Amino acid sequence: MAKIVGGIATSHIPSIGKAIARGLYDDASWKDFFDGYKPVHQWLDQVQPDVAVVIYNDHGLNFFLDKMPTFAIGAAPEYRNEDEGWGLPVAAPFPGDPELSWHLIESLVADEFDITMCQEMLVDHAFTVPMALLWPGKNRRPVRTVPVSINTVQIPLATPARCFKLGQAIGRALASFNKNERVVLVGTGGLSHQLDGTRAGFINKKFDRMCIEKIVKDPQFLTRFSIADLIRESGAQGVELLMWIVMRAALGDQVSEIHTSYHVPVSNTAAAVMVLETQNGVNNGSTDPL
Ligand code: DHB
Ligand code: FE
Repeated sequence: MAKIVGGIATSHIPSIGKAIARGLYDDASWKDFFDGYKPVHQWLDQVQPDVAVVIYNDHGLNFFLDKMPTFAIGAAPEYRNEDEGWGLPVAAPFPGDPELSWHLIESLVADEFDITMCQEMLVDHAFTVPMALLWPGKNRRPVRTVPVSINTVQIPLATPARCFKLGQAIGRALASFNKNERVVLVGTGGLSHQLDGTRAGFINKKFDRMCIEKIVKDPQFLTRFSIADLIRESGAQGVELLMWIVMRAALGDQVSEIHTSYHVPVSNTAAAVMVLETQNGVNNGSTDPL
């Protein structure tokens, strides 16, 4: 049985990738932000995951408006990045874990989640920037990966409640995986931000703080929101909170908060990183229906 060692929520802002490429870890405007990841590295050194299930939202590199799956899972031996036009260096490919991918896909479809299965999948900054933040070092690839992409580009979007149920189903799928793997869940995106329109630059610290608190102890609270509520409270792109909800729901009912760092702003975005540990290192069964 796979063991879920815990979950990490992190922002994925492209300018972070540029700062990493330039080595600005100790730069006055970046030091506090990057220091927020040091406890995350310590925790990862302790828990030693073999594989990361990375829940992220593609921004148009792999999927575009012509074909937009609500939920998609990669089932490839590796995942390539390409130039998205942000001025980020193209990341070296990330190793996949096709066996775990197919197990997740089979389990989720049996669990009534009609997943788009991708035997080829480009991964964008929402995947590559968190990987570089969590496992720094050029082309260092210490974990295998399974990308799970959630649509935030083309309305209608899956509701927070639906995303919570997807996370629960991912937790069940991992619990039934018959290999002794140590799995970390990573949810990328957020927190509050809006990149365009009259509210460009919008940040809502109060709402972000509430989400940070609820995601630990009462994540189901967040399922009361509609997509329109999330956009109003956290900005058009703040809806990326959905990835945090999926990650959290996969962890089970009880988690310990190991680390939280909240940093405002990075570019026009409220940035945060959280580490949540499962009790006894296992998903303790979040089977309650909503
Ligand atoms: C930006 C892009 C993102 O995808 C995001 O989540 C936050 C910020 C940006 O362009 O600054
Ligand atoms: Fe984004």
